[in-house]
Amino acid sequence: MSVTETWQRHLEALQSKASLRILALETSCDETAAAVVENGRRILSNIVFSQVDVHALYGGVVPEIASRAHVDACDRVIDLALQDAGMTLADVDALAVTHGPGLVGALLTGVSCMKGLSFATGLPLIPVNHIEGHVSANYLSDPALTPPFLCLVASGGHSHLVRVEDYGVYTLLGRTVDDAAGEAFDKGARVLGVPYPGGPMLSKLARDGDPTYLRLPRPNPEGRYDFSFSGLKTAFVNACHKLEQKGEPLPRADLAASYQKAIVDSLCEKAVLAMREGGLSTLCLAGGVSANALLREQMTDLAAREGFRLCMPEVSLCTDNAAMIGSAAYYRLRRGEIATLSLNAEPALALAMKRA
Ligand code: KG4
Ligand code: ZN
Repeated sequence: MSVTETWQRHLEALQSKASLRILALETSCDETAAAVVENGRRILSNIVFSQVDVHALYGGVVPEIASRAHVDACDRVIDLALQDAGMTLADVDALAVTHGPGLVGALLTGVSCMKGLSFATGLPLIPVNHIEGHVSANYLSDPALTPPFLCLVASGGHSHLVRVEDYGVYTLLGRTVDDAAGEAFDKGARVLGVPYPGGPMLSKLARDGDPTYLRLPRPNPEGRYDFSFSGLKTAFVNACHKLEQKGEPLPRADLAASYQKAIVDSLCEKAVLAMREGGLSTLCLAGGVSANALLREQMTDLAAREGFRLCMPEVSLCTDNAAMIGSAAYYRLRRGEIATLSLNAEPALALAMKRA
């Protein structure tokens, strides 16, 4: 029997099982993460090995170093995830791996590792889109959540407003026309000399700052639910340079607070507009930027004022992790969407979405 037939046979046997436990691996950027998730909703273990210390020396993620660090850490995080769940490979029903988008070398380490494990065990392998993983983190933090809902996805490479019609069915309402929100945070952090990782460190610095110190634009691109962060970034960089030219010390906390407020306002404004006009009752947040304390606070106030339900994964599930991949994989497995041996890393993989 061919490998694909073996996986297909396993898949057929799984369709009638009431409880499915998936071992997932995430290596798209600078976290090597493994988790075991039951039925897409219950985390049995969630291990994240962060490479932040390694990349901090260089002021950002070095792709080649990330790939090598993933190779070193993959089997350890998988062992730990199984151990923490009180399981062995024999208790696992299926495997899942992020196959894109992300850094090609980093993705390849995870894809190769899980293809090998799948080949050796015969367990079916489910390929997962990283962005779908971020959306699915909400299924873990709110077990009662079911589609349809609106999701604001704000990460290092994405700023999307997505209508989740059903599990795995998405309609794109709006997106950034230039930079992603996380990218804007990271660029602003660099200008202020804030060490990597930029977003969380800028947010920390902003805690003691005055958000009204610097007036910054809230760009409004043509698309009703689209975002734009590049003009805001340029205005911020220019303001910082002007202050530097005057020879004055930069009021870094005030600048960070003003910049953070402008990014958060833009995200909130479009998300609330889509909630008002979209006829949905629940807004979910997803992606690394949804770990931002000001965004969480401001969105909580808006939800109370506007009367919609807000779902925010806990901070550890907003940033990259494998539990979210295990959750997304469950719904793909139920639809019979498994990989073949030709599965490859897809650095520019897009989430399949209809345009509204
Ligand atoms: O989702 P994520 O962990 O990785 C990607 O899929 O891109 O997002 C990383 C992005 C980075 O740009 C990082 O600076 C930003 O999320 N980020 C934050 C915070 N935590 C992570 N930005 C603002 N405030 C935070 N607390
Ligand atoms: Zn991510």
